[in-house]
Amino acid sequence: MTTSDVRAETNGQIAVTTDGMARVSGRRPIDLQRSAGRLLKTSVEKFYDAEVDIDWDSPWLPDKAWFPEHRLSLYGTGLWNRLSEEQKIDLGKHELVSILSFGIYAENLLSMALLRLNTTGDLVDNKALYALAEVGDESRHSTMFARLIAKTGIPPYKLPPGFLSLAKILHFVPLGPSIQGATLLIEEILDRAQREAMNDERLQPQVRQLMKIHVLEEARHITFARSELVEGMRSRGRISRAWHRGVLAVVANLSYPILINPKLYRAVGVHPVRGFLACQFGPHYRENLQFMSEPMIRFFDEAGMMEGRFTMFLWRLTRSLPDDIARR
Ligand SMILES: [Fe+2]
Ligand SMILES: [Fe+2]
Repeated sequence: MTTSDVRAETNGQIAVTTDGMARVSGRRPIDLQRSAGRLLKTSVEKFYDAEVDIDWDSPWLPDKAWFPEHRLSLYGTGLWNRLSEEQKIDLGKHELVSILSFGIYAENLLSMALLRLNTTGDLVDNKALYALAEVGDESRHSTMFARLIAKTGIPPYKLPPGFLSLAKILHFVPLGPSIQGATLLIEEILDRAQREAMNDERLQPQVRQLMKIHVLEEARHITFARSELVEGMRSRGRISRAWHRGVLAVVANLSYPILINPKLYRAVGVHPVRGFLACQFGPHYRENLQFMSEPMIRFFDEAGMMEGRFTMFLWRLTRSLPDDIARR
C-alpha cells in the first residue's frame, strides 16, 4: 500500500493535513463497541509495513533537513544565531533522534495500558480485539523508529533510569480518562508535529515517509482514545472526574519537557543546561507547544478535562494552552 492518498491542505506556509483525523465530539455519547468494530475493520484494511514501505537502502540526501527548522528547540534564540548552517542541520538530526527515542518509550508504556485494557472486558469483544490490534501497530511503529535511529548512526537518547521507574507508576493508576488523556497527550502532540513535517519537501524522504505512515495509523488510535475518554468522563462521578483531571495535568507537566533530551546540545557544542534554559525561555517555546497541542486541548476542554482551579493552574504551567483557554 502506498501513502500517495495523503493530500495536503495549505495552512500558512507549511501544509498540515487533516486526513483521517478523529472527529470525536467531547460531548456526545458514543457506542464504544461499535466504534471499536469500525476501527478494527480499518486496522485490517489500512496498515503499513515500514520494512517494505520505507526505502531503507537509499542513502541520506546531503542537502535535506531532518525536522522543520522553525520547530527546533533553539530556533530564534541567541544560541541559534551563533550556529553554522551545518550545525543547525545537525541539531535537527539529533532532535529527531531524541523524539523518536522518546516515541519508543511512550509506545511501550501505551501498549502496556492497552494490554491491561484487553483483559478488563469480555476478552473476545471488539474493544478487546481492537486493543490487541493497536499493540500490533505500536510494535511496528517502534521497530520503524528504531530502524531510522540506527540508520542515522546516532545512538538513541535514553531516558534516565529514575524517570523510567516513575513512569512504571502508571501501571498502577486505574485505567480511565487520565490514562486515555496521557495517551492522547503523546499521540496528538506527535501527530500534529508530524502532519506539518511530512509535507515539508526540505526534509529527508525516508523521514517524511515514516511520518506519513505514523500519522495515518495513529489517526485510529486517537479516535479510540478520544472515544474512551468521553465515555469514561460521562460515566464517572464528580470526585473521580476531578482525580482523572488532576492526574492528566500532572502527566502533562512531566511529558512536555522530556521530548528533547538536553544531552543532544553537546552535539553542536552547547552545554546541556544552557541549551535547556535557552529552549525553555526561548521566544518560540510557547508558540510551538500551542501549535502542537491546540486540537487536543480543545477536545479535552469539550470532554470536561479542563475544569477546576488546581487543574487549570497545572495546565497553565505547561504553557501549551491556547490563549483564550489560558485566560479563563
Ligand atoms: Fe505509534
Ligand atoms: Fe498510537
